[in-house]
Amino acid sequence: ANVALWGGRFAGGPSPELAALSRSTQFDWALAAYDVRGSKAHAKVLHAAGLLDDDELERMHAALDRLAADVASGAFVAAPEDEDVHTALERGLLERAGEELGGKLRAGRSRNDQIATLVRLYLRDNARLLARQLVDLVDELIAQAEAAGEAVMPGRTHLQHAQPVLLAHHLLAHAWPLLRDVDRLIDWDVRAARSPYGSGALAGSSLGLDPAAVAAELGFDGPVENSIDGTAARDVVAEFAFVAAMIGVDLSRLSEEIILWNTKEFGFVRLDDAWSTGSSIMPQKKNPDIAELARGKAGRLVGDLTGLLTTLKGLPLAYNRDLQEDKEPVFDQVATLTVLLPAFAGMVRTLTFDTARMAELAPQGFSLATDVAEWLVREGVPFRVAHEVAGACVRVCEERGIELWDLSDADLAAISEHLTPEVRSVLTVEGSVASRDAVGGTAPARVAEQLQAAKERATEY
Ligand code: ARG
Repeated sequence: ANVALWGGRFAGGPSPELAALSRSTQFDWALAAYDVRGSKAHAKVLHAAGLLDDDELERMHAALDRLAADVASGAFVAAPEDEDVHTALERGLLERAGEELGGKLRAGRSRNDQIATLVRLYLRDNARLLARQLVDLVDELIAQAEAAGEAVMPGRTHLQHAQPVLLAHHLLAHAWPLLRDVDRLIDWDVRAARSPYGSGALAGSSLGLDPAAVAAELGFDGPVENSIDGTAARDVVAEFAFVAAMIGVDLSRLSEEIILWNTKEFGFVRLDDAWSTGSSIMPQKKNPDIAELARGKAGRLVGDLTGLLTTLKGLPLAYNRDLQEDKEPVFDQVATLTVLLPAFAGMVRTLTFDTARMAELAPQGFSLATDVAEWLVREGVPFRVAHEVAGACVRVCEERGIELWDLSDADLAAISEHLTPEVRSVLTVEGSVASRDAVGGTAPARVAEQLQAAKERATEY
């Protein structure tokens, strides 16, 4: 039997080669539960429009509930002949409701408005789950920042020692982008919360069916404003894909640092045994695989976004079959992040920082040179001159292989008349970080406020 939803005008079924190409059940089955939910809502509007009587609605819903249970238990699965999830579920409905009643459900809807709606339902649910997982990770970063207290580390630009910062400040610098990713998911939902159901194939709802009723039934804020747009646009899917890619990039940035910090040369951090892996040949190895996988999977997440945008580019209105390619990229992103985020959170939770080593390195590499210059400015020296003088100090130290605080009173005086021995008051890491006490700065009091603010933000979700 021809089980396609479009057999009437065709003399025979599709060629096996076309069927193999066309089939999407191997991935769109992920939408099966949403499809049945959509069908139940659709049955209600058919009833409201007088196209199903009370008894038919009841039997239709009962059949759809049985179908949903069979999908959930695995008793009902897609058959090889089913083109897509919609086709398979219609077959399942006909088997359960009978051809007469089951055949009535498809009135006034198209797979075009269905699929556009289902992918939004799926993404909205998963966006909430991902936001939850992200907040869990942020909580771990915040806990580490809190535990770090006033521990210091070398702050870097260009990966070179720049100025000392608090470890907590640095860790929170990874927490804020992740909190913004949570914000992005929440903000994205405003646009995702419009239902294309009722757009039909493209031109809109017929048969007196009410798109607003289906939208409300499915938890949307309302129907889309334009049925052509509703069936053809995938910017909402692409925007989700961007946020997922951004999460990947944000995790990858932190990963790179953990990988570096975990080297013998840095020695800033130790990974817990349960959250790192060994080598099959080198007995001494303990590898940061979670961070490396996160860094690698960021490439995949970005690739999913790139592939999707490339699919969408150049598509004329309205529905085109190319749009079937919108699902695998975002399904892959969801699957990727869903396994990555909990592992990543566990790795962060169990990091042990060598704060003594970080503190020892914090003032090295002349990272207090800016403090010398700013001390001179407070003494009334123009910054242009102060910068030159501090730079001269660094040059002398570099020549002699010493640090700034090793310069004698005579050395200082020889470099500049402005350099009195009092300059040594700023040649400590504690003095340096304490001086950066404007909002957002690394002074312990400011970082404590920032930590509080991050905690409050994280608990808002
Ligand atoms: N499976 C398709 C998709 O994922 C939906 C079906 C629309 N097919 C069609 N011939 N109009 O986009």
